[in-house]
Amino acid sequence: MELKTYQDYNAMSSAAADMIIDCVRKKPQALLCFATGDTPRLTYQILAENSKRDKIDFSKCFMIGLDEWLGISPDNTGTCHHFLHTWLLQPLSIDPSQIHLFDGLTPNEEEECERMNNLITKKGPIDFMVVGVGMNGHIGFNEPGTDIESLAHVAILDHTTRTVGKKYFRDDVQINRGITLGLKQVMQAETLLMIANGKKKAPVIKQAVSEKISNSFPASLIQRHSNAILMTDNEAASELEILQT
Ligand code: PGA
Repeated sequence: MELKTYQDYNAMSSAAADMIIDCVRKKPQALLCFATGDTPRLTYQILAENSKRDKIDFSKCFMIGLDEWLGISPDNTGTCHHFLHTWLLQPLSIDPSQIHLFDGLTPNEEEECERMNNLITKKGPIDFMVVGVGMNGHIGFNEPGTDIESLAHVAILDHTTRTVGKKYFRDDVQINRGITLGLKQVMQAETLLMIANGKKKAPVIKQAVSEKISNSFPASLIQRHSNAILMTDNEAASELEILQT
C-alpha cells in the first residue's frame, strides 16, 4: 500500500481524479467501480470537468456501483444510485448499457447479488476501484467482522453506519440494510484507491494503516492489497507518525 497525503481536500480530489483518468487512458475498456459518500463527490466533479476538457473517452468503460441502501427508491437523493447518476454518470454521459448499479428495491436480493457477481466474473477483474472509509472502518457496506472471502451480499448495517448514514437523507428513512460488493472483490481490484479527508477521519486512518490487519476493521485490509493507494488530506493523516507526500 502506498500512502499519499495532500494539503487539502481539493488537492486530494484532484489527484484522485487524475488517477482515474490515467487508468482510462491506458485501458479504454476498463471495468471501474465507484463508491459514494461525501468524500468522493469532489473527485467525481473534477473527473467530469477534466474529462470534458481533455476529451477523455469513457464510452467503452463499464461502470459498477460499490453498494446501495436496501429498500429505498433510487429517486431518493440519499441513494448511491442517485448520487452516482448526479455526480458521475450523467456528467460523463455514460450510456446506460455501460452501467450496472445494485437495485436497492430488488424483490430478490440473492439474485441481485448473483447478477453483480456474474458480471464481475465475466467482465472483471475490476481494473480500478474507488472506495471511501466509514467511521467504523467499513469499505462499502462491508461492516466490521465481514468475511474476507465474501462476494456481493446483503449487509445488516451496524449502529455507526445507520447513525452516520442519516446525513445523506433529507427524510427520516429506515436504513437498516445494504447490498454491497464483498471484501474478496475489493481485494481483487487491480488498483484500489481509498480516499479520506477531514479531521474526523484521522483516527480511522490511523487504525487502518498502523494497526493489525483484521476484518474487525475492514479498512486495515488495504495494507495487504498489492496495488492500493491511500490518498488523504493532511487532516485525515494528522494522527499518523510519518507524513509522506
Ligand atoms: P463519507 O462516507 O465519504 O460520507 O465519509 C464514507 C463511507 O462510509 O464509506
